[in-house]
Parts: sequence; structure tokens; C-alpha cells
Amino acid sequence: MNRIRIFDTTLRDGEQSPGINLNTGEKLEIARHLAQLGVDVIEAGFPIASPGDFEAVQAIAREVRGPVIAALARAVEQDIVRAAQALEPAEKPRIHTFIATSPIHMKYKLRKSPEEVLEMAVQACRMAKKYVDDVEFSAEDATRSDWDFLCRVFQAAIEAGATTINIPDTVGYTTPDEFARLIAYIREHTPGIEKAVISVHCHDDLGLAVANSLAAVRAGATQVECTINGLGERAGNAALEEIVMALRVRGDHFQVDTGIVTEHIYRTSRLVSALTGVAVQPNKAIVGENAFAHESGIHQDGVLKEPSTYEIMTPASIGVPQSRLVLGKHSGRHAFRQRLTEMGYRLSDEEIEKAYARFIELCDKKKRVTDRDLQAIVEEEIVQVPEVYNLEYLHVTTGSTLVATATVRIAKGDQVVEEAATGEGPVDAVYRAIDRVTGIPIDLESYSLQGVTSGKDALGEVVVRIRDNGNQYIGRGTSTDVILASARAYLQAVNRLVHDRQAKAREEANPGGNKKEVG
Ligand code: KIV
Ligand code: ZN
Repeated sequence: MNRIRIFDTTLRDGEQSPGINLNTGEKLEIARHLAQLGVDVIEAGFPIASPGDFEAVQAIAREVRGPVIAALARAVEQDIVRAAQALEPAEKPRIHTFIATSPIHMKYKLRKSPEEVLEMAVQACRMAKKYVDDVEFSAEDATRSDWDFLCRVFQAAIEAGATTINIPDTVGYTTPDEFARLIAYIREHTPGIEKAVISVHCHDDLGLAVANSLAAVRAGATQVECTINGLGERAGNAALEEIVMALRVRGDHFQVDTGIVTEHIYRTSRLVSALTGVAVQPNKAIVGENAFAHESGIHQDGVLKEPSTYEIMTPASIGVPQSRLVLGKHSGRHAFRQRLTEMGYRLSDEEIEKAYARFIELCDKKKRVTDRDLQAIVEEEIVQVPEVYNLEYLHVTTGSTLVATATVRIAKGDQVVEEAATGEGPVDAVYRAIDRVTGIPIDLESYSLQGVTSGKDALGEVVVRIRDNGNQYIGRGTSTDVILASARAYLQAVNRLVHDRQAKAREEANPGGNKKEVG
């Protein structure tokens, strides 16, 4: 079977989703998981966009081995130089340079003629080639570009050194049959195309990103750009897990496969959801909570008799953990560490200690501690938010005839502050008490509570989104006590906000860093 390359852009296009703000440690953790998942290329970021993006690309280039590490650059010198610098420690670096080729983008955004754009594409590929052998060129908004002009630009880019040419459906405008015709046209009318890998990059504005990518594969594309959970600008990008499983389950039809270790898909999806704070919708294909749940009696009966009656793939094939009893509090650290390793987590000693303390706490409260519970605990420990404010103590009184009252004790460095507040309910009271401690007026944009597992003693998972000066911050907390989970989630979001304010203050005190720009 022919091999399709999987180019993951969760850390670049995915990170451009509203409200997502990952730090370098979190990006590294995702990159490590992507390497284990077996992706061919990790697009680690857009180094010119901000010092934080540069640092993250550099850290991934330094540490992650296996996949090609790509960095994005507009077709201008300063972007390409910055990308090359960030990629210097990479084992297999790729510069991904792009410029828009559609009439609408050239006229209104770039204010350049087609000939000027073509020349910029050529110069960018030549310059990138001076730094790395592996150069990808993207014609932004390709699906709204003139087809013959596209072919001319791709021919020139290949002659200037591009080894991959990417055809993005930047605004999610195309349809499967039209996109397949475009790929076939480019293959037929671009001299030298056989020297380059043909790649596609689809956005999901009309819900067609996966269908368009698969149609392109049928038409001869051999690299697909995608993201975990379909994250990305606006409606997102094509979802990696859907592309990969469609190609795997329907190998008979597509006659191609990927190098993805599908058993790592679920874990990677959970990690990305935990670190970005973006929940996966329950009915999401492949990784949604209901993707393998059978509600109707007829279906349940069929699956019990023979799973293939209603299941075209097994939960195990994407690594959904079994809800089985794993460990008790007498199992000890060694068994705990061993189980996490079996589940694919590689934690530092400090993270293991913290997760173990949470596990022991959970064993006292919950009868059955399952792999799902362990996953929730570990995901919370992996989130690297500097703990400016640390919750030491929480007391709440509430009831149908009482005014909800909360007392919190919070440490900030050596200082410990205790405050109390009343509220509309216990969560409101806790959040008001925390606001009194921090003195920061918080705009709580959303609050959601979900059970990690079923049962009265289930772990509750709270995700909150707060807003400050146009920036969104996400916090996540888990506990069998949903009020405690709510407090943890809120404080995590507040800690992100404070950390961001501190970083901005440092940048202002030391001007010269680049501001974030969107590609
Ligand atoms: O959607 C797009 O066009 C992009 C390019 C930078 C590849 O993300
Ligand atoms: Zn994109």
C-alpha cells in the first residue's frame, strides 16, 4: 500500500484557535505524544509570531526526535531567518513558507500583482533552501486561486527548491469533487511536479475538511495536514484521527495507509483537550465519549452477539482505556508508576509524586479507581501552569434554606490570605472569595462540569474560561468533590492570567520582542 504522510499542525494552526494559549512545556508534551503517535511531520509553530513561539519551536527542535520538525514563515526574509534559527537544533528541519495566490488575497491583503507574488514565492524558497534541504511551499487560499496561475507558482517554487507543495483550502470553501479535480489538474499541468510531495491542508468552515482531504488523497495527494481533535482557525482543520481511521478502516477503498500507531490516538486526543481546555464534543467521530456507545437495544444486542454488527472499528484500536479496576491505595508507588508507563505516560519524578498524592486522596473517596480516573489525574498534573496562587483550604456551607458561604485560604509565595464570601450558590461563593484574595475582577465566560466516569463517587471535571482585556484563559480541575474541582479550575485559569500579565510586563520592560501575528 502507498504511504500517506501525516503532517500535524496542532501546535501551529491548532494553536491559532480562539482561547488556546499553550506554554512551551505544554507544547513539548504534545510534541512528544505526536512523535509517539507516529506522525511524519510536526509543525511546531510560527517563530516570528512571538518570542514564546520561537522558544517553543526551538525546544521541540532540540528535544523531539523521529518526525520532521517544521516551522512556518511568510515568504519574507525575516520570517525565514527566524524559522531557520529556531530549527537549528532539529535532526530533520523543514521550513514551511507561504504566500497567498488568490486574486482576493493578492489584491486586498498583499496589494501585490500576481507576478510580484510569484517572484516572492521563488525568493522565499531559494532563501529557505540555503538553510535546509526540506522546504515546503504553500499557496495560501489555493482553492480560490486561478488554476493555471497556481500551476505556474508551484512549478517555480519546485525549481527554486521546494520539496513539498501544499494546496490549502484556507477558508474551507471547496467541495470533495472540485478539490479532487484541482489536485488532478495540478498534477497534470505543473512541470516538475513529480519531484515534489503533493500536500493538502483543509479547513472545516463547511464541515468538509476531512471529506476534501480524503478526496485529495484519492486524486493523488500524498501528504495530509491535520490537527488533533480538528482544532484550528475558526471551524478548525481536518481532524487527524478521522483521516487516519478512515484510511485504516477503508484501506480496501483508498489503497493507502499511514504510519500512525492508532492505539495512541485516544490518549493524544485527551492530552490535547486537557492542555488546551477545548472539550471534545460527545458525538465527535473516533474520539468522542459516545463514539463507541450503543444506546438502542437492537444495537446493544447485536454488539453483544458480534461486535462487528455495529462497530466498524474497536475502541481498543484507538486506545480507549478499559474502565477496569486498576490499583488500590496499598499498591504502592512502584505499581502506580508501572501502570502509568503501561498507559503510555512518561512523567518526571516530581510529576509522579504529585499524581500519586492525588491518587491516594482519590482512593479514600472512590470505591473503584479506573484507568479513566488515572488519566484525569495525570492530565491535570501535566498542565504546567505556574502556581502563583495556591489553594490551601476550602470550606463551604450551603443548603436549600441557607445562603451559600465560602471561606478560602490561599497562599501566594510566603503570604497566606484567608477570605470569605456569600454567593448565589456554593460555586459562586467560592469564586467571589477567590476574587477577594486576588483582587482581580474576573469575567467568567463559561463554566462546564462533566463526570469523568459514571457512579455517585465519579470524578467531576470542571473547565472554566475567563476573559481579561480580550484574552481568554482556560482552567481545568478534577475532584470527587465538584466544588473543589470548581475552585481548582478557577484558580488555574487565574494563574494563567497572572502569569501572562507578568510575561507581558517583562516584554514591555524589555521591548524588541515581536508581537503575535496571524498567518
Ligand atoms: O490555512 C492556510 O492556508 C494555512 C497556511 C499557512 C498553510 O494555514
Ligand atoms: Zn490553515
